[in-house]
Amino acid sequence: MKRFIKVLGMVTVLMSPGAWADAPVQTAPATGKELYKAHCALCHGGKGQGVPPMFPGLNSKPVEAYAAMMQNFRAGNGHKVMVDMAKSLTEAQISELMAYIATLPPATSRK
Ligand code: HEC
Repeated sequence: MKRFIKVLGMVTVLMSPGAWADAPVQTAPATGKELYKAHCALCHGGKGQGVPPMFPGLNSKPVEAYAAMMQNFRAGNGHKVMVDMAKSLTEAQISELMAYIATLPPATSRK
């Protein structure tokens, strides 16, 4: 029943005027974003703000630093969660992710 209401809600939103402008439309090349939403947002936040102190934000260091950390995790060093995560991604996926992380609003301009 809950699921039905949720689906009904989505249908209503999709049918309302102007919904297309705001709806998270699946545009083709947004792979980094999609990967981020699917694999990282849960712990590091939708905008890379993190959930301190448990999960660090991904918006306070230069993206090169995060890229280097991913390589380090991938090599098996560091937090097990991230080692497993990094190993499950391809180099290409990590590149996509880093390109997306570079677009996240920096921590200093956060409201
Ligand atoms: C299940 C939770 C979880 C998920 C999902 C997750 N991470 Fe993490 N991540 C962590 C934790 C916990 C740490 C802190 C590790 C530590 O303390 O060394 C971390 C640390 C990091 C760091 C180092 C940040 C820093 O400043 O030290 C990077 C970079 C990172 N994660 C990237 C990612 C990316 C990219 C994804 C998605 C592919 C991702 N994480 C998914 C839990 C998660």
